[in-house]
Amino acid sequence: MIYLNGQFLPLADARISPLDRGFLFGDGVYEFIPVYHGKAFLLIEHLQRLTRSLEAINMKDVLTAKQWADIIHTLCAQDPAPAQGIYLQITRGAGPNRQHAYGAQDLTPTVFAMAITLHLLSDMERKTGLSAITTPDTRWENCYIKSINLLPNILAAQQAYTRDACEAILLDNGYVTEGSSSNVFIVKNNMLITAPKSQGILWGITREFILQLAQEKNITCLEKPISESDLQNSDEIWITSSGREIIPITKLNEKIIGTGIPGPIWQQVENHYQYSKEKFLS
Ligand SMILES: Cc1ncc(COP(=O)(O)O)c(C=O)c1O
Repeated sequence: MIYLNGQFLPLADARISPLDRGFLFGDGVYEFIPVYHGKAFLLIEHLQRLTRSLEAINMKDVLTAKQWADIIHTLCAQDPAPAQGIYLQITRGAGPNRQHAYGAQDLTPTVFAMAITLHLLSDMERKTGLSAITTPDTRWENCYIKSINLLPNILAAQQAYTRDACEAILLDNGYVTEGSSSNVFIVKNNMLITAPKSQGILWGITREFILQLAQEKNITCLEKPISESDLQNSDEIWITSSGREIIPITKLNEKIIGTGIPGPIWQQVENHYQYSKEKFLS
């Protein structure tokens, strides 16, 4: 069962117009919210980002926080999996024809949501870490908008996939922006470093939460540019997102990072992340 424009219905029965501007132009935004044991994690932060994304493309909120919470509850109640995610997407809706400009009158937005089971780190991956690659960041200047227009991200992720890596870390003029669907942290000399917030990256909810957790653990955190050589010579690399939490990267472009196993700062922040999740659930 999925949610589409006010209705819950089987995926196979869901229909949208071929003139939907999301389908034709990628004219829309999305969110992905982790849901643990039926409770949406950091929901307010995700909904605030949704509002920001909608405003940035001249759209208004379509549902209240309470309406979203009810939809999430209904969709997640179908599946007993302890870790799920809600994918939600809002497009500008279907116009009368295929014109780039959407005109003066608001269209009726298309609102879609579905639950997805999360596949978090396995015990083996926690011991070994995962691989990533680097590739140029060929995206536009407004990556803070969580736009459904993701072609450069898809091509980067596919490159990672074909090289048996779990993520493509994007480099803009020799500096790390973020991953194709994650933010990036490095550890150097026990300091945690991530690229500063700018219009060129998505303001990850997990990124912000990790900065808070690290501070609680008295880990020095710096939000500053990370060069390609900083990345290659780091002691630890992590990629972070709501769907994958905190992933330790132990190989970059087939070369070993740090000691080749997930590092002690990752372990410390990961433990605190899991503890904070438990506390939220209790
Ligand atoms: C490009 C990009 N950066 C960062 C993130 C991480 O954001 P969050 O922690 O809010 O999931 C995502 C998540 O989908 C993403 O697509």
